[in-house]
Amino acid sequence: MTEEFKLNEVVPVKEKYGKEELKLITLELASYYGRRFGGNAEKRLKEDVQKTASSGGGKKLFARLKWNEGLTTLYNSILVEQRKSRSLILDLTQAVIVDRYSLNEPFAYATIVKEQSGQLRYMVTEAPLSTEEKRRLEEIRELMIDELDVDVKRLGSDKTIEEYLRKLVGSIVKNYKIKIGEESLKKIIYYLIRDFVYFDKIDPLMRDPRIEDISCNGSTLPLYVWHREYESIPTNVVFETPEELDKFIVKLTYMTGRAISIAQPVVDASLPDQSRIQLTYEKEVTRKGSSFTIRKFRERPLTITELMIFNTISPEMAAWFWYIIEKQASMLVVGGTACGKTTTVNMLSMFIKPTAKIVSIEDTAELQLPHENWLPSVVRTGFGVSGKIAEITLFDLLKNAMRQRPEYIIVGEVRGGEAYTLVQAIATGHGGLATLHADSVEASIHRLESEPMNIPRPLITTIDVIAVQIRVRLGEKSVRRISSVCEIVGLDPATKDILTNDIFKWDPKADSYTYYGRSYVLEKIMRRHGISYEEAARELNNRRLVLEWMMRENIRDYKDVVEVIRSYYLNPTELLNKIKAGT
Ligand SMILES: Nc1ncnc2c1ncn2[C@@H]1O[C@H](COP(=O)(O)OP(=O)(O)OP(=O)(O)O)[C@@H](O)[C@H]1O
Ligand SMILES: [Mg+2]
Repeated sequence: MTEEFKLNEVVPVKEKYGKEELKLITLELASYYGRRFGGNAEKRLKEDVQKTASSGGGKKLFARLKWNEGLTTLYNSILVEQRKSRSLILDLTQAVIVDRYSLNEPFAYATIVKEQSGQLRYMVTEAPLSTEEKRRLEEIRELMIDELDVDVKRLGSDKTIEEYLRKLVGSIVKNYKIKIGEESLKKIIYYLIRDFVYFDKIDPLMRDPRIEDISCNGSTLPLYVWHREYESIPTNVVFETPEELDKFIVKLTYMTGRAISIAQPVVDASLPDQSRIQLTYEKEVTRKGSSFTIRKFRERPLTITELMIFNTISPEMAAWFWYIIEKQASMLVVGGTACGKTTTVNMLSMFIKPTAKIVSIEDTAELQLPHENWLPSVVRTGFGVSGKIAEITLFDLLKNAMRQRPEYIIVGEVRGGEAYTLVQAIATGHGGLATLHADSVEASIHRLESEPMNIPRPLITTIDVIAVQIRVRLGEKSVRRISSVCEIVGLDPATKDILTNDIFKWDPKADSYTYYGRSYVLEKIMRRHGISYEEAARELNNRRLVLEWMMRENIRDYKDVVEVIRSYYLNPTELLNKIKAGT
């Protein structure tokens, strides 16, 4: 696009403009049309304004729309097109397609392209609509809103709502005698359902199982995704105006059952599919305006086999964890944001004896355990003006959990007063597992000791193990590693310092794990249960054999892994014989 033919953004794009702004827009549009169409400019401009205005619907609806609205839409749509072509299409003529797969056959696809600059980009391509089809879509959308006489969310599952809307659109087309081809109607229904029932323009991204998170840092900026293969890449999905983004944020929040507003501008919640979502509203807390991050839910959690295949953990370490978890050891998995703490805790919990009573406590439901005797609980934030109505906190849940006499208590993430209660629970003989945001053992201890957790040192020593997890670059790839496993041995009687013992460490050069040979936790378990050293060594070795066998046989699916662990608990000899026989 040459500068000559560029429409200048004299007023920042938004949905409605004031009188003065409209004057400026009119002048700018007139001059832009003048440059493009010379003598015909005035006529063309008039036509385009009318055309744009009438795209809101048929004749009946056009009467309602005003000239100014047409002007606004025209101005906005030219700018949006310009932005798109500047940031994407120009580059794309030189782009190479790296990968392409379907997201919602036959309407939405993902295409990964490498732009000339070397930048990878995730392109969502959806069934294109002609101008005529776009007009029909808007017309049917309006009629649909008019005709909707039920709160669709009450109809039940998404599939039921989808069916209901399909029928409704069918009857609208018939009753209003809308002339439309079968193929066009299919596309239009795709968009209506995408917007009404699902996730609007991010729906294709939500359907891609290879995407881990989706983040939007503000309007006019491309959404970023974390892709399992291509890692953090920008997409071609953009919220064009602050208004469009705000509207979308309100809609997303509605889907979580919460409310977002200027008074309550930050929301951390779960979507109906259990994806975790964080939202900020307008410019209250984030400078670039509303924003959101979605951590997509994995239907099947990562298993120990997968974590070993990725080399997040070694079979030797896994065997050690398995054994001490069976014996109710307590531990913290610590690390930075999104390094995989919750995933590791979930994976470790699968080692808990199948019959054990487990209570879990989370801010948002993330854990998935196979145990029948598992009681999951999730906090409820207060509602009402003061936010004080019936709020149920981690602390409340934990106090309640203690009464259930669980063998294991799992806390999704400790950050406040509930940490004290958890450690007390551990001190009185419960097993405990939790994640904590901290990047080293020292930092974790420091956090536990200071506000708002305030745990006294002697209590901290009742935690058996701190595992530090990291996300690092290794060559071309970003990987997740349990970089060190450290035992808390006790207090130095003289200095009152916390004594720790490194037991496993990751060596970044060789990308392998070193075992330091002496485990105090294991020794404590042996003492407590009267187990001999040989017996313990044999157990560790047997479990390592089972784990390595699972890796060799590629037994990685959640259900299968759970089954293997269960059968080991039931009859270890039988399983080991089977493995030795190579079947
Ligand atoms: N070892 C791993 N290898 C590859 N991907 C992983 C691994 N662990 C977790 N993931 C993926 O990384 C993402 C973040 O994982 P997870 O929620 O466990 O991290 P977290 O540290 O608990 O994050 P937060 O700080 O937000 O609580 C998820 O999409 C998950 O599937
Ligand atoms: Mg987490």
